[in-house]
Amino acid sequence: MKALIASGGRGTRLRPITHTQNKHLIPIANKPILYYAIEAAVEAGIREVGIVHTADSLEVPDYVGDGSKWGIKITYIPQDKPGGLAQVVQLAEQFVQRDDFVFYLGDNMVVGGLKRFVDDFQRSKCNCLLTLARVKDPERFGVPEIRDGKIVGVEEKPKVPKSRYAVAGIYVYDHHIFDAVRSLKPSARGELEISDAHQYLIDKGFLVSYAEITGWWKDTGKPVDLLEANRLVLDNITPHVDGDVDMLSDIAGKVVIEKGARIINSKIRGPAIIGKECVIENSYIGPFTSIGDRTEVRNSEVEYSIVLRNCKILSVDIRIEGSILGNDVEIVEAGGKPRVHRFMIGDQSRVEVA
Ligand code: DAU
Repeated sequence: MKALIASGGRGTRLRPITHTQNKHLIPIANKPILYYAIEAAVEAGIREVGIVHTADSLEVPDYVGDGSKWGIKITYIPQDKPGGLAQVVQLAEQFVQRDDFVFYLGDNMVVGGLKRFVDDFQRSKCNCLLTLARVKDPERFGVPEIRDGKIVGVEEKPKVPKSRYAVAGIYVYDHHIFDAVRSLKPSARGELEISDAHQYLIDKGFLVSYAEITGWWKDTGKPVDLLEANRLVLDNITPHVDGDVDMLSDIAGKVVIEKGARIINSKIRGPAIIGKECVIENSYIGPFTSIGDRTEVRNSEVEYSIVLRNCKILSVDIRIEGSILGNDVEIVEAGGKPRVHRFMIGDQSRVEVA
């Protein structure tokens, strides 16, 4: 069994963060989203992982490396343009060869790992195993039609969904998927759709079975999904304090304070994580907040937010909540009179003021 992870695409719905950073490297609880996919594969006993990345950037290969930090081998497969998930599979044929493989969309996160899906696939001797999650908005996803416990059809982002399920971004295949992706024509949005490949397998009489994801699953395509994934991961974090917390500070709940961080006269209410060499002074960090390495928060309050590396939040007199700050962002007090808001904001940013 091998694993193929998709880390290409454009990440347009996560701009402006994705103007300067690949979306799969955005941290959730201070760990890149992509690492959750790699670690899930490792935990399922997989030792050979292929990662498809956009050909015009080596950001993912440079950051993730050759896999030795997990004791596995990672092969990188470039994709010229985001031509669809079925194209991602096409590009991986030489890497996968005749093996079975898990196809994992690198922006998906699931609790409970992959092993149970691999086991289900092997037990049922099917050609393709889809993972399904019950959702409120199936029209955003691939949607299965299920009759008498069998998948009889799959449609990509249908206007009128035939079930309340989304096909989640974790699939297990045998080599027949390569015949399916070879047969496809681009869809109306110009992509080779993975849902069409699944429909091909069904039409040709291959066995397409499914497993329901009963715990949580997230497609982190949109900012609110990132905050929600961050909340869910922090909820399960193992607390530990490696940094310095002074006598005037108060830490409660599940809190991780990483090496070199300093907490001075502040309140931290977990679940929360404070990255390496951060300084939190005269401040409040509320539940479900991740603060990236070397960020400074002074005389301010932050809650239910993701703050990346090297940010400065200084003397902001209203609580920052439900926010995502990229690397090197500064939110500081505007000095002098009159009292004003002063902005220097890049393309496609969004600011909400009270
Ligand atoms: O998250 C589950 C959904 O993922 C499924 O229900 C849909 O059937 C499936 O088509 C897909 O829909 P999305 O619209 O969410 O796909 P998205 O374009 O966001 O791409 C998913 C991941 O694959 C993301 O990590 C980027 C990567 N990707 C995407 C494309 C189109 C590539 O690496 N190359 C590509 O060409």
